Amino acid sequence: MTHRIAVLKGDGIGREVVPWAVATLQALGPRWEFVEGEIGWDCFQRTGTALPDETVALLGTCEAALFGAVSSPSRRVPGYRSPIVALRREFNLYANVRPVMSAPVPSSRRDVDMLIVRENTEGLYVQRERSDGQTAVAERVITRAASERIGRLACQQALRRRRHLTIVHKANILPETCGLFRDAVRRVAAEYPGLTIEEVLVDTMALRLIRDPEHFDVVVTTNLFGDILSDEAAMLVGGLGLAPAGNIGDTLAIFEPVHGSAPDIVGRNIANPLAAILSAAMLLDYLGETQDGDRVRAAVTATLREGLLAPDLGGQATTTAVGEAVLRHLH
Ligand code: NAI
Ligand code: MG
Repeated sequence: MTHRIAVLKGDGIGREVVPWAVATLQALGPRWEFVEGEIGWDCFQRTGTALPDETVALLGTCEAALFGAVSSPSRRVPGYRSPIVALRREFNLYANVRPVMSAPVPSSRRDVDMLIVRENTEGLYVQRERSDGQTAVAERVITRAASERIGRLACQQALRRRRHLTIVHKANILPETCGLFRDAVRRVAAEYPGLTIEEVLVDTMALRLIRDPEHFDVVVTTNLFGDILSDEAAMLVGGLGLAPAGNIGDTLAIFEPVHGSAPDIVGRNIANPLAAILSAAMLLDYLGETQDGDRVRAAVTATLREGLLAPDLGGQATTTAVGEAVLRHLH
């Protein structure tokens, strides 16, 4: 069966690493139809939109997508809105899933194997901000429906893993929003016997990720907390160059490296392509091709064991050398 996959390279090193993810999938055999779409800051500057309607339409015809990264300005630019946030909303990609696993590199902690499941559609990311110049207010929206939905996905993942679920919140300070989230997740978790459930406050969680990360299996939390904690967790096991993510919905899933467009290293062929390649492995899992997903992860591990490390991992290997090594280990 042929899989139709959208390829959205985006900006900066997105264009340098995504081709290696595509090459990795191609190396597994001729069952792919790749279609490219435009997205991001360059696209905005050329066309006036960061997310053209054609790209949205294209995604509607695909099973899944590989996305690189986009550059976003940190201040308001008229007409610009983050295209990845827009896509998460457009396709209701309600779960952001990030595996955090020990890697055979000097900077990785040992015995870490967790999955961070972050609610991806609401919380503070509804972007309802207002300001009169003296007081600025942001609304944080938590719904029972979205909390139960993410809770279900987290429980299903936990059942396939070590059956331990950690709910991260701050209900001591935010009893309405975080309380609703916690109660909703607990309610659905009760439908999954055999899971052990614990709650950890988000500040304690930031500490415990450093102190005893090996304790955690599946971690479920709200949007902003998950964004922050998953970047912290990525740093425990080798950093952004090794961190993949999936945005999962009911009809589409978009897989992307956690990192951004990395303007500081763009154009030098030193970006680590492994986060993008590991995102392709997640895409394989999503399509039900878990054996091939495992093959790709094994090829990545073999590449690292060989000592072929990009500069972010303390080595000197180029993007090309790392990408080619993965393909070599696949064959
Ligand atoms: P970043 O992830 O692009 O870079 C942070 C640091 O990590 C930089 O020093 C960079 O060189 C390094 N790095 C990142 N990926 C790497 C890789 N694959 N190999 C080697 N080194 C790597 O985050 P930053 O600098 O905060 O943001 C840069 C731009 O990316 C901004 O415009 C931001 O809005 C955007 N961004 C986009 C994301 C997305 O599209 N999902 C996510 C995060 C940031
Ligand atoms: Mg982030």
